[in-house]
Amino acid sequence: MNLIDLRSDTVTRPTPGMRKAMAEAEVGDDVFGDDPTVRALEERVAELLGLPFGLFTASGSQANQLAVGAQCRPGDELLAEAGSHSLNFEGGAVSALWGVQPRALEGERGLLSPEQIGPAVRPLSEHYPRTRMLALENTHNRGGGTVWPIDRFRAVVAEARARGLLVHLDGARLFNAQARNGVRVSEYARLCDTGRWASWPRPACTRWTTTWSGWGRTTRTPGGWRAGWRRSPASPWTPPRWRPTWCSPTSRCRRRTRSPG
Ligand SMILES: Cc1ncc(COP(=O)(O)O)c(C=O)c1O
Repeated sequence: MNLIDLRSDTVTRPTPGMRKAMAEAEVGDDVFGDDPTVRALEERVAELLGLPFGLFTASGSQANQLAVGAQCRPGDELLAEAGSHSLNFEGGAVSALWGVQPRALEGERGLLSPEQIGPAVRPLSEHYPRTRMLALENTHNRGGGTVWPIDRFRAVVAEARARGLLVHLDGARLFNAQARNGVRVSEYARLCDTGRWASWPRPACTRWTTTWSGWGRTTRTPGGWRAGWRRSPASPWTPPRWRPTWCSPTSRCRRRTRSPG
């Protein structure tokens, strides 16, 4: 019997055509900038989103984390909706990797309102962390796939900007939002400083200034820090500091964090 697995859109499998395209993809040394497949992906996504740069990452969580790491410093505070992926499903990485303090704002099916932003931003004082960044999610996964209406999105971003915050967009399913409400993905993207945008099998591109772009390229290296990526990996990115201590030698997590061969 052919069962349709609806646990998540992430349980889909590549079609034979997709596998063939992957097997036949042209490859090259990413450090020299001559992996044509990665470059084509970065350029295509940047073009679709109307952004100056794209950076290929091995997972969406990695893209979210690079955006936080590039723009926040230890002790900063990150505002995000209470059910967001970044606060709930990235292994506490904003604290573990960057020393950033997360602050959850209770939304309405994942959506915040402009009125929530002002009171959440801390006054400048030696007592308080610096409220640095607002992370939004579109569509909102735990909110039930909620699509941000563009006017509400604009209003929330405007409030954040008026208070000096940077804005990151976790756009794991941003193209679903466009399919639903017809608002082009670039409309959302151009309002934000960084974002992650994905499609199967997990390319994620983050918008960068030239400086962040360089930083992101060296920091996304699988299994370590500050090095080139050379062969674009299909393996997950797991800096040693982030490897959970509860991983046993036989656990799934251990198998997943094997270094690339
Ligand atoms: C909203 C959202 N952000 C981030 C992620 C993480 O993506 P990845 O599994 O590629 O790290 C997911 C995964 O489903 C997600 O739904």
